[in-house]
Amino acid sequence: MTGLPLAAHFAAAPRLLDLRGEFPGVPADWAYLDAAATAQKPRAVVEAITRAYAQDYATVHRGVYSRSARMTDAYEAARQAAARFINGRADETIFVRGATEAINLVANSWGTANIGPGDRILLTRLEHHSNIVPWRMLADRQGAEIDVAPLTDDGRIDEEALIALIGPATRLVAVAHVSNVLGGVVNTRRISDAAHAVGAGLLLDGCPGGLRRSVDVSARGADFYCFSAHKLYGPTGLGVLWVRRDVMAGMPPWQGGGAMIDEVRFERVTYADGPQRFEAGTPHIVGAVGLHAAIDWVESVGIDAIDSHERALVAMARAGLDRLNSVRLFGPANSAGILSFAVGDVHPHDVATILDEGGVAIRAGHHCAQPLMQWLGVPATARASFCAHSSTADVDALVKGIERTMRIFG
Ligand SMILES: Cc1ncc(COP(=O)(O)O)c(C=O)c1O
Repeated sequence: MTGLPLAAHFAAAPRLLDLRGEFPGVPADWAYLDAAATAQKPRAVVEAITRAYAQDYATVHRGVYSRSARMTDAYEAARQAAARFINGRADETIFVRGATEAINLVANSWGTANIGPGDRILLTRLEHHSNIVPWRMLADRQGAEIDVAPLTDDGRIDEEALIALIGPATRLVAVAHVSNVLGGVVNTRRISDAAHAVGAGLLLDGCPGGLRRSVDVSARGADFYCFSAHKLYGPTGLGVLWVRRDVMAGMPPWQGGGAMIDEVRFERVTYADGPQRFEAGTPHIVGAVGLHAAIDWVESVGIDAIDSHERALVAMARAGLDRLNSVRLFGPANSAGILSFAVGDVHPHDVATILDEGGVAIRAGHHCAQPLMQWLGVPATARASFCAHSSTADVDALVKGIERTMRIFG
């Protein structure tokens, strides 16, 4: 490998994107490889948010003055954009604070109404804590049981084993579309067919999947799909929960307050229909505008182009790290944008600290996936995650930083 930059070893690599200039927060000499935690923002998103606060700001849904009406239009246009992005409908699309709140909403509303003593919820070994803890809490409350699908040797969800665990008592299957630690992608259609055959629902945690793949919620057979805007180059504090229309119709509200009601009396309250029933209080108005700008930006680049770009960079990083004797790579060979690894017995925090000294930002820790860490047999991993502005120079900097880590630790 010596002498040549990594990209030179990949003559047949697909054409890579060159978008660093569009990210004002990412200087050319900084390798930001933590997009799976949160994505940096393109200028178009920063400008849309600034404009929304500096020029267009007003509340939504309640004001009768024209600026409020325009802001309401912008907020609802964002809902339409979010729905279109995953090929759903606007009246199936609820704005929440993030994927975590989305899953808690489903657990508290749908889960409380549909899951009772003896019922079973099927998760997998690689889920993020956001897709474990709300179900554990629900199961404890309702007297339900949790089943856990195993993984294949290379760290993908074992679909055959998962399907075999679906039984007559299964009420919900809740799985990550893309693993936030290992980058494996699940084939959801087969799982949804098996779940629906026993009357169970399917929740897909689209964090960080929604950012990495084009998503068609109905083709995937999901009943619930969620993602966070901040992982899709949008703002923090906003997420999307898509719920199939007939499923949403039977879901009771979970938080009470303004905006989610039809009529309020002290004796009795009736509730709004559709997404509004789940959006109590003043929403994250500017967050929605920012998400809309992020979706427009991603669509202008092309999500499949971003996916191929990330995969090419992960393949280069894998190849570069694989040649270093003491590096252990985790996860499937064709992972989507994400690569977890260990460097000998150096603690991942030390790896990340040394990389940071060389201008490379990676994540080190359990990635909110402790059961997966137990399966891997490590307390933590180092994780590099790539995105639209990542480059072959970032891959080179990562590999050089790991070589330096190995020299420092002998
Ligand atoms: C797979 C997965 N699910 C859920 C979440 C939770 O997202 P948020 O913290 O934005 O609510 C994350 C965030 O890291 C994630 O990676």
